[in-house]
Amino acid sequence: MTTQHLVTFLPENRSVSVRPGTTLLDASRRARVNIRTRCGGVAGCLMCKVNVTKDQGKFLQPPTEAEARKLGSLLDEGVRLSCQARTQGNVAVSIPEDPLKAAIRKKLAEQQEEDEWFR
Ligand code: FES
Repeated sequence: MTTQHLVTFLPENRSVSVRPGTTLLDASRRARVNIRTRCGGVAGCLMCKVNVTKDQGKFLQPPTEAEARKLGSLLDEGVRLSCQARTQGNVAVSIPEDPLKAAIRKKLAEQQEEDEWFR
């Protein structure tokens, strides 16, 4: 019997069981969670970043040489490349908000604030 690792994607709180050593990107696809990529998973585009707390980081294999080179000091801030980071235990990771969605959400909030001010 193969042990499975449970990967949870936040903030959607969607989980999937995967084989040990599965990349977070592959797990996200199985969980039907959208992580944007442009390079096809070869540590080239840096679009697949996820955030991992220090506590959760130990449930991922150490960064590959390519990942370490690409992320540099971001690794110390808990950023990992989902196409490179592989599970070694049950792990929860956060997907940063899409920059375009964040900008739209901010603009809508500002507009709502203005509308309330004029009432
Ligand atoms: S998919 Fe491009 S860096 Fe991970």
